[in-house]
Amino acid sequence: MKDIKTLGVLTSGGDCAGLNAVIRAVTYHANQVCGWRVLGILDGSLGLMEKPPRYRELRADSFDEGLLREGGTFLGTTNKGDPFRFPQPDGSFRDRSEDFAAGARELGLDALVVIGGDGSMRILSRLCDKAGIGMVGVPKTIDNDVHGTEYAVGFASAINVVTDALDRLQPTAASHHRVMILETMGRDAGHIALNGGIAGGADVILVPELPYTLDGLEAHLRRVLSRGRSHALLVVAEGVKTEGGKHVSVNMPGEQLRYGGVGYYLEREIGRRLGTETRVTVLGHLQRGGTPSPRDRLLASAFGVHAVRLVAQRRFGRMVAWQDRGVVDVPLSDVTVGSRLLQPDDPLIATARGVGIYVGDV
Ligand code: F6P
Repeated sequence: MKDIKTLGVLTSGGDCAGLNAVIRAVTYHANQVCGWRVLGILDGSLGLMEKPPRYRELRADSFDEGLLREGGTFLGTTNKGDPFRFPQPDGSFRDRSEDFAAGARELGLDALVVIGGDGSMRILSRLCDKAGIGMVGVPKTIDNDVHGTEYAVGFASAINVVTDALDRLQPTAASHHRVMILETMGRDAGHIALNGGIAGGADVILVPELPYTLDGLEAHLRRVLSRGRSHALLVVAEGVKTEGGKHVSVNMPGEQLRYGGVGYYLEREIGRRLGTETRVTVLGHLQRGGTPSPRDRLLASAFGVHAVRLVAQRRFGRMVAWQDRGVVDVPLSDVTVGSRLLQPDDPLIATARGVGIYVGDV
């Protein structure tokens, strides 16, 4: 079996806090412990598809120690353009997977660590097969919807942002006797809204997985406001639909639907039904940027080291994961089956209901 000499690492999909900490851990372990050359591929799969391929040689001994603390990804990333169906300027699509394979050959990559969500893992594992190189995945996404792992890098930092936003919204809501609506990210899964909403003391949490009715929401808010409290906090995930079943979104050509604005729909409905003054805050990309939380730095470091160990053992086609208070690894085939959604029997849904939060009609 061929020795590993050169390891590639790339970030793919939407960024989040903690990506640089993963790259740091991968580079340190691969460079210093295994003695391999490490190439950081720029802008996800795009870097390998270009001629010449775009990359940076990564050396653990010349890393700025600030990296552990920095948000974003210094390698760059992309959440557009599946190489198997790559958009062309004239609106058509072309299979450019061979360009990726050629890039991997030109750089002499023996294996690739992919830091991404479930969609990136699915595409990149097919690309690595085509290029004839082994792949190991590291889960990241603020949405925390990757199967096989309790936590993905970026989620904990996003929850801190949501909780902090609610801590700031509560006093101003109380001062003005308003209903404050906080719209979080979370395309298909409501993990951010549910976790952040409980931690931040919300009265209502709406997630894409649990149906709600405007009547149910109104009745709950009336109850809250009749108990001597003149304000309320509502958290809604961007992927929640209107009562009529429509996403609030903008369609940009060549992109996934851009969600956002369901908070304004709820503002109108609450104003109409209750006559209460209501304001909306859309948190958006604030949840993705900023300094990684200690929890994310820890997860990123543990994941990075374990990913390199898997490469050293040639245990390819696997993703590192967090389960039962430790790092493990799972087959990529268990992960690339779609998004890990909230299940109705999730213990945190019972927790939310147990502290009087409306999370949809029972
Ligand atoms: O998947 C992560 C995520 O942050 C989603 O929560 C959100 O819908 C999407 O990315 C936003 O992507 P973009 O950066 O393209 O606006």
